[in-house]
Amino acid sequence: MAATHVDEVAADLESAIRDGTLAPGTRLPTHRKLAARHRIAIASATKIYAALKSKGLVVGETGRGTYVRDAAPRRDWDGGDEARLSASTADLSFNHPTWPGQADLLRTTLRDLAASGDLAALMHQQPPGGRLHERAIVATFLARHRAIDIDAEHVFLVNGAQQGLDIAARALLEPHDAVAVDALTYPGFKMLAQAQRLKLVPVPARAEGLDLDALDALCKRHAIRAIYTMPTLQNPLGWVWTPAQRARVVEIARRHDCAIIEDAAYAYLAADAPPALATLAPERTVYVSSLSKSLASGLRFGYMAVADAHANRIKQTIRASYWSLPSVVTAIATRWMADGTAARQETWLRRDARRRQKLAREILAGMDIVAHPASMFCWLTLPEGLRMDRIATALAHKGIAVSKAEAYATTRHAPHALRLGLSSVAMTELHTVLSAVRETIERFPV
Ligand SMILES: Cc1ncc(COP(=O)(O)O)c(C=O)c1O
Repeated sequence: MAATHVDEVAADLESAIRDGTLAPGTRLPTHRKLAARHRIAIASATKIYAALKSKGLVVGETGRGTYVRDAAPRRDWDGGDEARLSASTADLSFNHPTWPGQADLLRTTLRDLAASGDLAALMHQQPPGGRLHERAIVATFLARHRAIDIDAEHVFLVNGAQQGLDIAARALLEPHDAVAVDALTYPGFKMLAQAQRLKLVPVPARAEGLDLDALDALCKRHAIRAIYTMPTLQNPLGWVWTPAQRARVVEIARRHDCAIIEDAAYAYLAADAPPALATLAPERTVYVSSLSKSLASGLRFGYMAVADAHANRIKQTIRASYWSLPSVVTAIATRWMADGTAARQETWLRRDARRRQKLAREILAGMDIVAHPASMFCWLTLPEGLRMDRIATALAHKGIAVSKAEAYATTRHAPHALRLGLSSVAMTELHTVLSAVRETIERFPV
């Protein structure tokens, strides 16, 4: 069928958004103006905007106008060409949870912030690691929602958990120091270790946790200075250690005098998890987390809860690098932690993650999957003979981005596996996207 004039207007608008001629944030004409400009019916203009919205290219509501959506393409950890994302990519490579009312919450908070308090204070330099009253809000949040008892002087605010991990490693370790890590671990830690020239010593990992006998033996052999670990909701395997496993790791760390860097970026998802290592070994643990996986990955708000023995070095390291977060960010984030917004959102996302995980298990049933039922991701080992890079490329051609095992592996050889992040794709699309993943693997190389 020949394209109508309305089809052409829609296609021109779409390509102007996709190629960046209309930049993110651009306000588009009202329905009435668009209609008048192109001599089409208002109902047709409304239809065009509705179609752009459903493709994720514009945002807006009645009364507020229609804006080009900021869906900046990102790259995956391992960078290959197939990982270049566009606004229409179904992104299973990264979890940036979105939830209803996110934009409205920020709008209201910014308005409240503008109208209240000592606004000029936000223009002043903060002390290294943050203002004490805001660090106290984080300490109270940790006590109430993570059962971690810490005072404000031992809490430092950082630009996301990634920076917290980087600061912890800089403060506690020297180049060439040995750090025990899971054989499959968070890629951001691998990257900072490489930049800091740390020696990563992989500990064999199984679905239920890392091999603790092997950890003990490696500590003896390698003069391990620190153990980097995610005891609750490990990324990428999703394990939650039992109390016995935690006690054993603490015992090993004490016997070999290793620091513990505890990454709790996803820990909130496992609501009934046993106590954090920070409470079991407070004398040697740096606990790092953020609001990236609950409230907003773009807020860049994270925190460290640190042992007294490390506090001064960490403060000096912070002072030597970023000094403090932007005051507007700390004001927004601590407001959400103090007024119950953060906890409420965590409750919502816990339910959401379980629903997504359940759907993934249904669709991928019978495949080789490792995942916690509360987790936002699953680990999918490919059938014998299939290569992760070829499957990732095939998926990219269908507009689906995934992470490859090689980004997570600290061993020389990575298993042929993929990590599927479940929280960035709209729930309404997840079924279709995961079905396409299954079909691509089962039919490969068709
Ligand atoms: C396990 C883990 N730790 C830390 C981070 C970094 O989080 P942030 O966005 O707060 O820097 C991530 C991000 O994906 C993660 O998965």
